[in-house]
Amino acid sequence: MAKLLIRGGTPLKGNVRISGAKNSALPIIVAACLADGESVLENIPRDIDVYTISMILQELGAEIWFDEQKRLHVIPDGLDRYQASYDLVRRMRASFYVTGLLLARLGKAEVPLPGGCALGSRPVDYHLKGFQSLGAAVSIEHGFVKAEASKLVGSKIYINRSSVGTTINLMLAASRAQGSTILENAAKEPEVVDLAIYLNSMGARVRGAGTDVIRIDGVDSLRGTEYGIISDRIEAGTFMVACGITGGELVLENVVPEHLRSTILKCEEAGLEIEETVDTIRVSSKHRPQAVDLETAPYPGFPTDLQQPFAAMMSIADGASIIRETIFDRFRYVDELRRMGADIRVDRDTAIIRGVMELTGAQVEATDLRAGAALVLAALAAKGETEISGVELVDRGYEHLDVKLRQLGADVQRIPEQEEDALQEHLGSPLLEML
Ligand code: EPU
Repeated sequence: MAKLLIRGGTPLKGNVRISGAKNSALPIIVAACLADGESVLENIPRDIDVYTISMILQELGAEIWFDEQKRLHVIPDGLDRYQASYDLVRRMRASFYVTGLLLARLGKAEVPLPGGCALGSRPVDYHLKGFQSLGAAVSIEHGFVKAEASKLVGSKIYINRSSVGTTINLMLAASRAQGSTILENAAKEPEVVDLAIYLNSMGARVRGAGTDVIRIDGVDSLRGTEYGIISDRIEAGTFMVACGITGGELVLENVVPEHLRSTILKCEEAGLEIEETVDTIRVSSKHRPQAVDLETAPYPGFPTDLQQPFAAMMSIADGASIIRETIFDRFRYVDELRRMGADIRVDRDTAIIRGVMELTGAQVEATDLRAGAALVLAALAAKGETEISGVELVDRGYEHLDVKLRQLGADVQRIPEQEEDALQEHLGSPLLEML
């Protein structure tokens, strides 16, 4: 596994450009394959998850590549296979979006169950129930979800719990269904809105995205188009916390401050100073962070994807914080933070963090993407050297995090391991070279 060696203690300073949102890029690349003709997508982050979804779609027959201006081209016209490969789908839950795509485009999908992951059990029952409501016959055989419908027909669907993935998968499927679909209790995340805007720019009729009722009037065909996706609110939040934990001063460029409202409020409560313009956030931290309590919630609540990074900052805060995680089972990083001297007790969905004066460098392992980010942040503040293994998990969702941190003054060194080279060889394609 690749490693990061981080020598902590340097306040981060400077400007950092935030990349496009991974969780917008993934569904939008899939949505591009609903169309006839080419889409050209801008602001797509070159991270491993983007690469994985592109590989899956390439295997199904689409043509996908980055050009020299870092724009992603998607030509779906040759997409005529309905069975997605186990090897690729198991790597990433968002791969399951190809089910909605294949049902809408080919009327048939065979996609491996994405299964559980480091965030606990992550079922797809809401997705499947939704496909059935649209008229698909759905079964699970030999680990594959098999779904079939000669024509999907619009329907009224109540999603049991606000679910980003379900809302997106059903928007993809319903966009070319016959008649109208109404999604109730839909997710309101900015990534859902971004997908709706892109679908509409291709000729779809999606209304209400950003509220909890989305109406999709199905159309017969969609056409490829050019589109620039939103920037990554989770990457932006990670840098805000990096600033807070190191006592630095940063300007985040290419951001949508409105998407970060709950994060900005919590950072201010922790004592960070924040100034916004339309597309930048200046953040500075002059004192030790204050302890803050928080609870994760669907948007516009505090994002679960920033719970771990924020907890890293709370581990050196003045006072005790109570952090409640309501979306996933996401406290595995706690054992690793304890190795660095953090004082954290977990009781079911709640972590009680008593801030210590100082963390100390240690050997730790990233257990998932955001847990890895939390360890990177803790290491930036810690005394001495921290060695973080499992860095490929961080690469899934952050574009060149180590490079960006170095540009801001951090002492970060990447140690690629032979396995990383072997993976490159195995997956070798022009696309990977562009990453
Ligand atoms: N759920 C079910 N059944 C379903 C679908 C969801 O029980 O069929 C439950 C989940 O287990 C969870 C809750 O509903 O408890 C909400 O899950 P949701 O479907 O919203 O999550 P997701 O679509 O799988 C996306 C992001 C996650 C982010 C969550 C919550 C992508 C690719 N992933 O996951 O991002 O944490 O929404 O905001 O968009 C990450 O980027 O690190 C990441 C994990």
